[in-house]
Amino acid sequence: MSESLPSYDRWGSLKGKRILVRVDFNTPVAEIDGRLEVTDDFRIRATLPLFEELLSRGATVVACTHFGRPNGQVVEKYRVEPVRRRLNELCRDVELLENLRFDPGEEANDATFGASLVDGFDYFVNEAFGASHRAHASIMVPPTLVPSAAGLNLARETSTILGLLESPQRPFVAIIGGAKVADKLAITKVLCEKADTVIVGGGMAYTFQAALGHGVGSSLFDASYVEQCAQLLAAGNVVIPSDAWGLPSTSAFGTNSVDEPATLFGADIPDGFAGLDIGPASAEQFCDVIANAATILWNGPMGVFEDERFSSGTEAVARAVAKSDAVSVVGGGDSVAALQVFGLEGDVSFVSTGGGASLELVELGDLPGLRALRESPFN
Ligand code: 3PG
Ligand code: MG
Repeated sequence: MSESLPSYDRWGSLKGKRILVRVDFNTPVAEIDGRLEVTDDFRIRATLPLFEELLSRGATVVACTHFGRPNGQVVEKYRVEPVRRRLNELCRDVELLENLRFDPGEEANDATFGASLVDGFDYFVNEAFGASHRAHASIMVPPTLVPSAAGLNLARETSTILGLLESPQRPFVAIIGGAKVADKLAITKVLCEKADTVIVGGGMAYTFQAALGHGVGSSLFDASYVEQCAQLLAAGNVVIPSDAWGLPSTSAFGTNSVDEPATLFGADIPDGFAGLDIGPASAEQFCDVIANAATILWNGPMGVFEDERFSSGTEAVARAVAKSDAVSVVGGGDSVAALQVFGLEGDVSFVSTGGGASLELVELGDLPGLRALRESPFN
């Protein structure tokens, strides 16, 4: 994607103008004292500079978002109310519409529903980087009907991620983790071509281990990807774990199940056991690679870090990334959550608000929502 995204600077004065801003306020919530509260307002805070700028130029700003997956109907627990309360604590002058996904037209990319959203608005701004991989009505239709622009954060995230892929300072080290190899193989392939070293950890790494002939016991493993993992390993720049912390496969793990101590395995995990985190030798090796990087892209945790017994690998990687002087970009809900758990969000160059969207932008170099802005007839 070489063409740049349209900016709202070209609209001149915004005095008296009504602007619809599509945001991604799909944030985690939890019940606290009997009502749902936002537990992570990162995505809300990321839109404040845009809101403040549009408001200070005299515009009336109305925001809209999806929230959860209510599947085209009104579902009480997916009302935006907790998000709206948090937004209004941070910025009083922006109205937030009800959950877009209460209408089946949103996910169906229905033209009539899309048109109803911008009815009465002068302009549209897409500030929903995290939802721009979805070709849904609120993302795709407004740019065909009113002058439209990229939000500050959307523009910055896009150019940061694409810039890093196009001309990284070297060595460029990519760290890919997370549970499922199926979700991450495409991005791993792209990064094997672009990065000098690709570190693979998390549940997805066991399919790579299996491709080298190691035993993986009952760890997460996907037989249908073994061949592709073997091909990536043959390229020579992929680093995988050499040891693992794990448990008998019948044991509970996750939050609140810290009774049974973890067992350390080498590269082979015996039958009846499952690996749940990278071990100390892997962590040390990964950190050495990270320490020499000039550019770092990190997406996905190294283990089940919400369980204290299996957080050391993710913590070691997070600390190494934070300590490094490299340009570091962290994307994906889980790795961002990990940075927050260890109090390190301020120590990386850029934290992406997008999970699936940042993966897809790395994989494909473009997103439907970005295309919709570039192809708007009002540009
Ligand atoms: C996200 O949180 O990943 C985005 O808001 C997109 O949500 P979705 O996966 O439900 O489309
Ligand atoms: Mg998602």
